[in-house]
Amino acid sequence: MLIKNKIILDENDIPTQWYNIIPELPNPPQPPLNPATSKPLVPDDLAPIFPMELISQEISNESWIDIPEEILDIYKLWRPTPLHRATMLEKALKTPAKIYYKNESVSPAGSHKPNTSIPQAYYNKKTGVKRLTTETGAGQWGSALSLACSLFGLECTIYMVKVSYKQKPYRRSMMESWGGKVIASPSDKTQTGRNIINNDPESPGSLGIAIGEAVEDALSRNDTKYSLGSVLNHVILHQTIIGLETKKQMEISGDYPDIIIGCCGGGSNFAGLSFPFIHDTIKKKTIKELRTLAVEPTACPTLTRGMFAYDYGDSNKLTPLVPMHTLGHDFIPPGIHAGGLRYHGVSPLVSQLLNDKFIKAVAYHQLEVFEAALLFVKTEGIIPAPEAAHAIKAAIDEANKCTEEGKQKIILFGLSGHGHFDMGAYDAYLSGELKDYYLPDEDIQRALKTIDKLTPSSR
Ligand SMILES: Cc1ncc(COP(=O)(O)O)c(C=O)c1O
Repeated sequence: MLIKNKIILDENDIPTQWYNIIPELPNPPQPPLNPATSKPLVPDDLAPIFPMELISQEISNESWIDIPEEILDIYKLWRPTPLHRATMLEKALKTPAKIYYKNESVSPAGSHKPNTSIPQAYYNKKTGVKRLTTETGAGQWGSALSLACSLFGLECTIYMVKVSYKQKPYRRSMMESWGGKVIASPSDKTQTGRNIINNDPESPGSLGIAIGEAVEDALSRNDTKYSLGSVLNHVILHQTIIGLETKKQMEISGDYPDIIIGCCGGGSNFAGLSFPFIHDTIKKKTIKELRTLAVEPTACPTLTRGMFAYDYGDSNKLTPLVPMHTLGHDFIPPGIHAGGLRYHGVSPLVSQLLNDKFIKAVAYHQLEVFEAALLFVKTEGIIPAPEAAHAIKAAIDEANKCTEEGKQKIILFGLSGHGHFDMGAYDAYLSGELKDYYLPDEDIQRALKTIDKLTPSSR
């Protein structure tokens, strides 16, 4: 039989609705809490930082939400994205498994992130907002928001985690090309940043700190709102375009996945790819028992070693308290090269699905991740982002298991972005300078102490 290497949909096949998993969950996540009152948040609590339409999506109980035409028109700049069959990787592994990957690296910013930056900029623009602030780790989210702001004529200020700012000067140039203003975080522009610098002038920064700076900045001006690239329900909603498209493509292939894999920082690409398939499991539309794997770095093991608790999204305790797996809001992960996976928490939806055993989590060290990335580079030709390489490593391990067991399973993973701005990381790997980080239990316990009093059971 002729094997198709790529399945490409027509522009007219782009899904016209996003999928919201919340109404279908047996146990929806507990509500976020107002940190001042410890009471469940009401929409008005979020109004200073988000426009009402995004707040409505955040708490929506509708399973399907229409995608406005204006957003679909912009999605068409790069969507639908291809679904590839990794035939060359399969051959190299000598595996009976079939490996598919959804390629989100083809967006203008180089990752899945514009799937949500475009709608976020759109809804802000509609309500008269003039300026957006945000954080970025790897630079992918900052690039995506900068792109979206330029398309909708908004100003954009990006607090970029200092270690990534130094590692990736050309990511900064990319954001600036779209008109974004990039500030290394921690910075002296906000009280949050100044507090951190006073304590530790050499701080490499973290997503938690950068979020604190971006929120503080947004709260200080009436024309400005804040935009988050992961974790929240509305972000995950927008990212379901990935899985919805993939379902159509898998149908054309004649296969249905046994295993779905995504790298997991805040959880948005993982959830975006897998939730539309988990919908089939919940609705009993498939008899297959889906194995769904969220892959994280051992240097920031939120799902595999964190605690499920109410915690802040930022280190400065400005955000609401959300129920999630967390390493503690002041946890500063080692400066690994997968900057987008250096976040202390994870989406409450992903956390809930882990608790309810719909999904599993695994963690890998960065050296084995780069080894997997290089095999992918040499077989499939694409240079993956270090974040996405975590999913590749897990896909290779699953394929090798199939070889041992003599089983032809269908493996699907998300290629969340390319690594064209991560060549410093590849350079470090190729020259033997890259090293693994082993997080001692004491470090994790110390970080977790900050959330002891916030556990759901203590409320
Ligand atoms: C290429 C890429 N993949 C994955 C991630 C992790 O984010 P999330 O877990 O929200 O998909 C990032 C974050 O910056 C990223 O840039």
